[in-house]
Amino acid sequence: MVRVQDIASESKDTIPDEFVRLESEQPAATTVRGVTLEVPVIDIVAASKEWGMYQIVNHGIPPPLIAELQSVGRQFFELPQVEKEAYAKPAGAKSVEGYGTFLQKEVAGKKGWVDHLFHKVWPPSAINYRFWPRNPPSYRAVNEEYTKQLHGVVNKLYDSLSLGLGLKAGELREALGGDELVYLMKINYYPPCPRPDLALGVVAHTDMSSLTILVPNDVQGLQACRDGQWYDVKYIPNALVIHIGDQMEIVSNGIYKSVLHRTTVNKDKTRMSWPVFLEPPADHVVGPHPKLVGDKNPAKYKTKKFGDYCYCKLNKIPQ
Ligand code: SIN
Ligand code: FE2
Repeated sequence: MVRVQDIASESKDTIPDEFVRLESEQPAATTVRGVTLEVPVIDIVAASKEWGMYQIVNHGIPPPLIAELQSVGRQFFELPQVEKEAYAKPAGAKSVEGYGTFLQKEVAGKKGWVDHLFHKVWPPSAINYRFWPRNPPSYRAVNEEYTKQLHGVVNKLYDSLSLGLGLKAGELREALGGDELVYLMKINYYPPCPRPDLALGVVAHTDMSSLTILVPNDVQGLQACRDGQWYDVKYIPNALVIHIGDQMEIVSNGIYKSVLHRTTVNKDKTRMSWPVFLEPPADHVVGPHPKLVGDKNPAKYKTKKFGDYCYCKLNKIPQ
C-alpha cells in the first residue's frame, strides 16, 4: 500500500494527477480570498467567568421529555390544596424537601409570590419518595427519565469547567462530591399576581449549589443582575438555563462567578420553573481547589462543610 505520506516525501513541485482536483473543486480557484468566516464560538468557560449564567440548546434532552416534566409538575400544583398538603415539608425538618412556601420573611419583612416543591432525584440512596407526588401517576417515571438524561449534560459541564481551570476533566466533579453529588429538584409555582409591578417571585439571590440547571415555562420572569442593573433574561424554548452557584465560585477560587438573579411574576399567567441544584452532600467539605491556590493566588474563601455554608447563608452569618 502506498501511503500519502510516502508520496509527499517524493513530491517536489508537482503532485500525481490523481490528486489534482477538478477545477470546480480546486481550492485556489474556489476560495473567497481576504476574509475568514466567523463561525460562532461557544465558550462556556468565558460565560462562567463573565456572566455566571447562560443557556444551552441542542443539549440532548428531548423537547417532548421537557414538556412532560412540565406537564406532570403543573398537574401536581393544580391538585386540590388538601392533596398537595400531604407532601408538605414537616415542621422543623432539617431537609428542604417537600411542598411549601418560605415562611421566613426577607429584606424588610417582605415575601416572595411563590410556592415550591423540593425533592432529591439523585443519587438513589438520597431519594425520599415520600416527597415525590404520586399524582399524576406518571410523575415518578417522567422525573426519573429526566434525571437520567440530565447526567450527560451535568458531566459535560463539569468536565468543560474543569478543563477551563487547567484541571483534569473529572477533578471539579470530584471536588464537589463525585458520585455523591446530590441533584435536588425544585419546582417553583408563581400564581398570577394582581400587581406584578410591585411584587417579586424569588428575591435577588445567588444559588448555594455548584451548578443549577433549569427549565422555565414560557412565561417571562427570570432576571439577571448585570453591572448593578436588572434585566429580563430572554426565554428560549427548550433551552436549559445554567447558573453558576456559590460552591462553583468557591472551588474555582473566584474564577467562576455565581450569578445574582431574581424572578418577576405575571398578572394573568402562572409562571413555573424547574431548577435542579447540583449540590455536594451536607458533610462534604468544599474550599478553593488546592491546585488553584498558591503564593500568588491566596484562597479567597473559607473551606467548610456544605451544610455549614448553607446554615451561615440562610441565617445571614458572615461566611
Ligand atoms: C431561581 O433560579 O431562583 C428561579 C428561577 C426561575 O424561576 O426561573
Ligand atoms: Fe436561583
